[in-house]
Amino acid sequence: MQYRTLGRTGLHVSAVSMGTWKAFDVRGEQAIEHVGRLVTEALTCGVNLFDTAPMYGEAESVLGRVLQGRREGVIIATKVLASDRTSAQRLIEASFQKLQVEVIDLMQVHNMAAWRTVAPLLEEYKAAGRIRFLGITDYRTSMFPEMMTAMQTGIFDTIQIPYNIGEREAEHAILPLAQQCDMGVLIMTPLCPIFHRSQLLRVLQRHNLSFLEPYGVTTPGQALLAYLLAQSEDAVLLPATSRLERVQENTTAGEIAALPQQAIAQLEAFF
Ligand SMILES: NC(=O)c1ccc[n+]([C@@H]2O[C@H](COP(=O)([O-])OP(=O)(O)OC[C@H]3O[C@@H](n4cnc5c(N)ncnc54)[C@H](OP(=O)(O)O)[C@@H]3O)[C@@H](O)[C@H]2O)c1
Repeated sequence: MQYRTLGRTGLHVSAVSMGTWKAFDVRGEQAIEHVGRLVTEALTCGVNLFDTAPMYGEAESVLGRVLQGRREGVIIATKVLASDRTSAQRLIEASFQKLQVEVIDLMQVHNMAAWRTVAPLLEEYKAAGRIRFLGITDYRTSMFPEMMTAMQTGIFDTIQIPYNIGEREAEHAILPLAQQCDMGVLIMTPLCPIFHRSQLLRVLQRHNLSFLEPYGVTTPGQALLAYLLAQSEDAVLLPATSRLERVQENTTAGEIAALPQQAIAQLEAFF
């Protein structure tokens, strides 16, 4: 697994990390045990960051539970989505409980909700040592201009943005600004864009990808992840899966040396 420095946080993070939306939102012993196996496999494959949120149903609690006893070296990124200071504080306190931690590594303003109102509270938690780093996220590319304003305040250490072979708006301004501001970059939806869930995978399934085999890429999922890793030297990907075999499939992409320009161009030609 390649590790990448998450901007000025200095954290060394697995290039392929793990999202928890849907896949970790489960109830019942058997389902939670299954998530435990996903996490075991991810840790074995070198994943050291998990991204979650209070908005992902049971995901925060399930992540907290399955990480019990093996929390060392694991970076937890969660989020806060609230319209005012009081409800933001309530959510953050609940996150400490659900994740079963005293300190949260990365707290991100989810979908930039009331970020100007919530930021002072986050800075207080950071000053008190309860939150190590602050981030901002949004799934809407239309919010990039507002995100760039937030990035320039210097409050936030990381961004989390949509970026995939079918959704490349981030390349124009956000990624260069993140580099200029020395901010960490987490990539949501690297495989399935929010508004066209299986479109990218379906396109690749229609093509012969054998030209990628010499580089160690054997599946459409790996092709999408390897593409992003080659496009940005800093980005950390957050694919989510509920299938055990796909954990290894996805993390293998984090071991591949950067795809050459010719392979990148061939992939882009499919879209
Ligand atoms: N606003 C925000 O901050 C925001 C918004 C969206 C997402 N996120 C974060 O980003 C993470 C990733 O986003 P996401 O889960 O929406 O999208 P994603 O990781 O791009 O796609 C997940 C989907 O891809 C499937 N999948 C996973 N690996 C695969 C493979 N190798 N081949 C084929 N299909 C595969 C999964 O199905 P199976 O379960 O069947 O494998 C699941 O349906 C989330 O979990 C969350 O942590 C943040």
